[in-house]
Amino acid sequence: MELSNNTILITGGTSGFGYEFASQLLNLGNTVLITGRDQTRLDQTKKKLPNVHTFQSDVSNPEAIAQLFEKVTRQFPDLNILINNAGEMRKLNLLDPMLDPENVNREIAINLSGPVRMVQQFLPHLMAKKSAAILNVTSGIAFVPFPLSPIYGATKSGLRAYTQALRVQLKKTNIRVFELVAPGAKTPLNDKFEGDVDSGMMMEPDKLIAVAIKGMMKDKLEILPGIAVVLKYLSRIAPNFLFNQMSKVAEKSLAQSFQLAVL
Ligand SMILES: NC(=O)c1ccc[n+]([C@@H]2O[C@H](COP(=O)([O-])OP(=O)(O)OC[C@H]3O[C@@H](n4cnc5c(N)ncnc54)[C@H](OP(=O)(O)O)[C@@H]3O)[C@@H](O)[C@H]2O)c1
Repeated sequence: MELSNNTILITGGTSGFGYEFASQLLNLGNTVLITGRDQTRLDQTKKKLPNVHTFQSDVSNPEAIAQLFEKVTRQFPDLNILINNAGEMRKLNLLDPMLDPENVNREIAINLSGPVRMVQQFLPHLMAKKSAAILNVTSGIAFVPFPLSPIYGATKSGLRAYTQALRVQLKKTNIRVFELVAPGAKTPLNDKFEGDVDSGMMMEPDKLIAVAIKGMMKDKLEILPGIAVVLKYLSRIAPNFLFNQMSKVAEKSLAQSFQLAVL
């Protein structure tokens, strides 16, 4: 698809992939809108990218999504691309007594319910556009359970399944449905995983997002930068090998940092 002269809304645009999307899509001549929860970070981003438009909004809050829709479509009626990027990834010990049923659900509310609600809210608006797109950011972890972040992994597998189903349902519409299956990258999301995963394997976010944008331009609906493609095929050829590797990382990290809770 043509990636200039669009109006693009990116959730979670103050850091990592969202920031890179905003910066590169602005350079291509698009109008770019970003969200985030923290107003200070939005203001800092606005200083770095003066042409970006910022909206404070929490994607895990359905009321905030409805308010965002009202504001954004009133101020930017030409909005035609939605990038569901905002996400959170935590190391979780499911034996931790502090992990109550509300807290354990947090990644589901942000990473899975968030994009699903955003799409449902913006779908009628996007349907009315001549050319439109939705891009959901999933992860290489969608291909294999990651026991160190059990809820995060479930949200990304779920988001991938939803994105594939959405693509089928929107097949005859003007809306292209992209999935960016991102491999590990050097963003603040991974700060808490230092020592758990080999940072040498991680991609630079600017390079990863450049691949994503090129993919969208070529109408590549499933975009697999760097080792994401290896993970996809390895998960089919040798699923147990991959899962065992992921399990070893989790067992080592849980033993070190949580000293495994005693039942
Ligand atoms: N980095 C990786 O290795 C990697 C790999 C695969 C997939 N991904 C996915 O890529 C996406 C971006 O990750 P990243 O690495 O760029 O993370 P990041 O650097 O931590 O940035 C996350 C962004 O999302 C925003 N955000 C978080 N929760 C939000 C909420 N509830 N509502 C609105 N905005 C929210 C953050 O701002 P506030 O905190 O101010 O709200 C921030 O702008 C995520 O979906 C992540 O799962 C990342």
